[in-house]
Amino acid sequence: MNAPAAAIDWAAVRADFPLLSREVHGKPLVYLDSANTGQKPEAVIAAVDDFYRHHNANVSRAVHALGTEATEAYEGARGKLARFLNVRADELVLCSGTTFALNLVAYSWALPRLRPGDAIVLTRMEHHANIVPWQLVAQRTGAIIKVAEIDELGRLDLAQLYSLLTPEVKLLALTHVSNVLGTVNPVREICREARKRGIVSVVDGSQAAPHRALDIAAIGCDFYAITGHKMSGPTGTGALWARREHLAEMPPFLGGGEMIKEVRFEGTVFNDAPHKFEAGTPNIAGFIGLGAAVDYLSALGMHHVEAREQALLDHATRALSQVPGLRIFGQAPDKAAVISFLVEGAHAHDLATLLDLEGVAIRSGHHCAHPLMHHFGVPATCRASLAYYNTFDEVDAFVAALNKVRKLLA
Ligand code: ALA
Repeated sequence: MNAPAAAIDWAAVRADFPLLSREVHGKPLVYLDSANTGQKPEAVIAAVDDFYRHHNANVSRAVHALGTEATEAYEGARGKLARFLNVRADELVLCSGTTFALNLVAYSWALPRLRPGDAIVLTRMEHHANIVPWQLVAQRTGAIIKVAEIDELGRLDLAQLYSLLTPEVKLLALTHVSNVLGTVNPVREICREARKRGIVSVVDGSQAAPHRALDIAAIGCDFYAITGHKMSGPTGTGALWARREHLAEMPPFLGGGEMIKEVRFEGTVFNDAPHKFEAGTPNIAGFIGLGAAVDYLSALGMHHVEAREQALLDHATRALSQVPGLRIFGQAPDKAAVISFLVEGAHAHDLATLLDLEGVAIRSGHHCAHPLMHHFGVPATCRASLAYYNTFDEVDAFVAALNKVRKLLA
């Protein structure tokens, strides 16, 4: 299990991803937008296909054979995900993704508790899903929002962050890994500081879960959100882990089937957590696919995934630093495989559009992180985000294409 990443046959891994062998605009596809959404291995596609072909039924309500198979597979996926994250399955609420998960905390934990004069601390590097729900809560409760800033390398300024953690702060919400800068935040230390002060911590793990072995129990946060489609699983899947005492106290967010024990017109007895927060028919096939994705990543070993991506990141960073006029946003020593950049004299969208014609898919824009763009004084950046299924040759092809198109724009 502790063999170096080189022990893995990465060419065979790549061959597991059917989409990666297609062409775009007559050129071989170089997919460098995995921070936006990850590609899916055959095993995930097959698991979704198999469910619809052979087992499709609703979960937790039908006594027939298909209903039992569907329920077992769906709850089995919850168990796989819980083991992957090192948490208890009954503390894991399955939902559509990080946006839903963070809104669940905002509406169900924060809204009933916060009062005028209370404060919420966020960081400069949050994406909109970890900003807007807190603004909505602040507007309705009279709480205020305070912001932890970053240094020139794109790391959190921890001294400034801790100085914000004053007695009126009730909640700290921060990302584990920045989707723009790649910065890996020391969430264990930060959550410990929050806890010492009686502040509840919420960690957005959407960019961490695809890249690193996670041990949520060891982080010591109160809530942790993940999204499945960035970790090689289907879209519309994700989860919120929460300490059981919070889940027990939180009122349901959405009402409907599955989240109840008994309904009368006089009143309803809610189901136990996590089902209390899972109203309606879930994305059953999606979660079965996510279970297959977790199996796939676990078989590779997340330490291998991380080592592979770090090697690709180092290679890409070295190559990009040779490109004239290129500026990289985010140079933290502990960084995931995300490179945001601009090239002098070229607009981000123009670069991305011309790169697309070369078969290279990168993201350009604000990356759902307007406050970070304001901080840098730019409307947009380009972003190449790498995954374990990328190759060194693809990185070279990307840099060669970038050199070609930047000359067209100069
Ligand atoms: N999907 C978003 C990204 O590309 C937030 O980082």
